[in-house]
Amino acid sequence: MSHQVYIFDTTLRDGEQSPGVHLNMEQKLTIGLALVDLGVNVVEAGFPISSPGDFESVNMLSRELKGVTVCGLTRAKARDIEVAAEALRPAERPRIHTGLGVSNNHLEFKLRMSKEEALEVGVNSVKLARNFVEDVEYFMEDSGRADRDYVYKVVEEVIKAGATVINVPDTTGYTAPDEYHDLIKGIIDNVPNSDKAIFSCHCHNDLGMATANTLAGVLGGARQVEVTMNGIGERAGNTALEEVVMALAIRKERFQCETTIHSRKLLEVSRLVSNLTGMLIQRNKAVVGANAYAHSSGIHQDGVLKERSTYEIIDPEMVGAAKTEIILTARSGRHGLKHRLSELGFNFPDERFEMIYEEFCRLADTKSEVNDQDLRELVLVR
Ligand code: KIV
Ligand code: ZN
Repeated sequence: MSHQVYIFDTTLRDGEQSPGVHLNMEQKLTIGLALVDLGVNVVEAGFPISSPGDFESVNMLSRELKGVTVCGLTRAKARDIEVAAEALRPAERPRIHTGLGVSNNHLEFKLRMSKEEALEVGVNSVKLARNFVEDVEYFMEDSGRADRDYVYKVVEEVIKAGATVINVPDTTGYTAPDEYHDLIKGIIDNVPNSDKAIFSCHCHNDLGMATANTLAGVLGGARQVEVTMNGIGERAGNTALEEVVMALAIRKERFQCETTIHSRKLLEVSRLVSNLTGMLIQRNKAVVGANAYAHSSGIHQDGVLKERSTYEIIDPEMVGAAKTEIILTARSGRHGLKHRLSELGFNFPDERFEMIYEEFCRLADTKSEVNDQDLRELVLVR
């Protein structure tokens, strides 16, 4: 049986918290509309109380984005919740996302509250938020480092208070995949009313495990994932939308889950977000990096030219990339060279080809890539 995993995109909230990123209203609208077109289920539009600009943009996105849930973040404070409710008022499907920390670290050093006090504040926030909207998501900040029994207690009480979605953030990117899996599964198995809510993965990438943790959470029973385009976000970033979506699609037999994402639009939206945020995409970035479908070594080129699946598990067209790229370098072999020459309209008898290949090897040793112009000069001039 296949389950739906809801895609909660937080590019415009956690993503915009990336150091150095600031988006104006027009840019936020452009990204918001692109995310809707991509097929996300929830757009986290911002943190309305944090500034007048954020209030305005959450309000504008609530008006403009159709067919999705629009979500606003709040602390577990009455004024935050009232302001978020006001900003979200025009939304077709508004969601208030409220909560506070659950780890001993956050309780002691940041919140300076006992567990009981924090629980009461959380429960009251959910009850207040439910006066404004039917859909209330509760985040338990720093769940990854929290005491499990306390997490179970909080989940049970906030569901009783009316929370519809429970967000289990690994705020500091601390957990390993098996731990995050057990955290989600533990909640679902141990909290008596867990069947009344959807559980959500929200992972940060401090140790490079955000995608692995999110997928482990899905295997543990989470049915919502909180992600950003290109994995942008605080510090080392959030879980990358494109990685989770493609892992669920390519490894469907393992995860048994579907999303509503139109994967052919992934590359386009990834580039849009990169251009508007100024956050460059590393060439070897999974799924959307410039090198993700490029092959430069002779052994790999020989394989993919015979049968693409030998070295490529994602068909580039699935994400909107033109096609597999054969990059000619000093590591390329005869098969790659012959293929590119024939794409350029040159086909030579074996003897002449061997001479060209030798010239090619000499040239390739002097540069990182032999491009089409180099090849033309090689075959026409020499
Ligand atoms: O990382 C985190 O804990 C968050 C919450 C505010 C949801 O971004
Ligand atoms: Zn976060």
